[in-house]
Amino acid sequence: MEYSEKVMEHFMNPRNVGELEGANGVGTVGNAQCGDIMRVFLKIENGVVADASFKTFGCGAAVATSSMATELVKGKTIAEVMEITNKAVTDALDGLPAVKKHCSVLAEEAVRSALWDYSQKSGVAIDGLEEPKEHAPHAH
Ligand code: FES
Repeated sequence: MEYSEKVMEHFMNPRNVGELEGANGVGTVGNAQCGDIMRVFLKIENGVVADASFKTFGCGAAVATSSMATELVKGKTIAEVMEITNKAVTDALDGLPAVKKHCSVLAEEAVRSALWDYSQKSGVAIDGLEEPKEHAPHAH
């Protein structure tokens, strides 16, 4: 399995690690298959992500995608954040091995889950945002 230099760099030196003081949207998601857990903190002010951070208990790709996802959402409007898919995160990292795709999906879901939390707490409706679903274990 080959990781891009960017993935390795974000894994070795992740950005935005830890809890975020004053966060008003927090989302936690997990993948029942690998057991990895990701939590994203967003601080949204005037409809813009003023700051973002994460805590990830997971594989190197989960750390790298959380790091990149929090970098990508900073300074973006909620509508722009809604456009950031797992593919955008993966592309920003110059790709991920196919078996690691679900790690980037987890990053997208964690951001959406944090937006959902913000929406619930603030009463701000977010176009196109669906309630995060529970993750059932995959059968293999
Ligand atoms: Fe599960 Fe990477 S192996 S998030």
